[in-house]
Amino acid sequence: MSQIRLSDGKCDTHARRSSFINRVVENDLIQQVSYEEYREKVKHVYGGPKGAMLATASMLSLHIPLGKRLFRTRQFDLRGMKSILDVGSGAGQIVQHLLDFADPDARIIGTDLSQPMLRRARQRLKSNRPSLVAADLASLPFADASFDGITCGYVLEHLPDPRMGLGELARVLRVGGRMFLLTTEDTFSGAWTSRIWCCRTYNRRELWELCESLGLHWKKEIWFTRMHQAIRAGGICVEIEKR
Ligand SMILES: C[S@@+](CC[C@H](N)C(=O)[O-])C[C@H]1O[C@@H](n2cnc3c(N)ncnc32)[C@H](O)[C@@H]1O
Repeated sequence: MSQIRLSDGKCDTHARRSSFINRVVENDLIQQVSYEEYREKVKHVYGGPKGAMLATASMLSLHIPLGKRLFRTRQFDLRGMKSILDVGSGAGQIVQHLLDFADPDARIIGTDLSQPMLRRARQRLKSNRPSLVAADLASLPFADASFDGITCGYVLEHLPDPRMGLGELARVLRVGGRMFLLTTEDTFSGAWTSRIWCCRTYNRRELWELCESLGLHWKKEIWFTRMHQAIRAGGICVEIEKR
């Protein structure tokens, strides 16, 4: 079985020292309250002004143009996928890439916990092609093995326990299906991200181990640019295959 070499740098003294600082900076609400309470908080955050600014923030942080390049250059190749699910669609940032680069006959479904975000996505996308439905990543309203492909950008960090979401993603993805997973890492910039968006962060190795235990095999790590890779910015971004 092929195994990727993780760029987690955990043997590095600096990485260990900064992880203490990261823990101090990181928002810990997600661990302090019940999932129901936390979910209400997330709905509130994205339903309000921060959610209204999400598309602009994604443009300014270059998440939209650099994400577009990943799909355009087939670093995550959508060709051949006939049913694609985007989880936590937000303002439709990734759904737009699916509309641009997926096969013309591919069925595209976007989901989000927040009704205001779904409305914003609809307005922004100006397309009737994607179905946009309200759904929680922790309990997706789809049958087992419904999708050839899944994209999930910056959403998993909104769950206290990643098993809740990864188990669902593994369930609805067919065997051999591929997933684009992007989530906040336990770096210094990730800790600040968690402050702004009230989320948690993930340790790359722990997330990899959990994915492998669920049959979600990391095919490759993806970076927005070489600069992101050098300074470990942008989060954990991986192509996953379900085995
Ligand atoms: C940072 S935005 C990400 C938007 C987009 N996917 C991207 O890559 O830019 C996070 C989105 O996930 C949604 N979200 C948070 N928790 C969720 C959950 N448990 N289930 C579904 N969506 C959730 C939020 O409402 C928000 O729209």
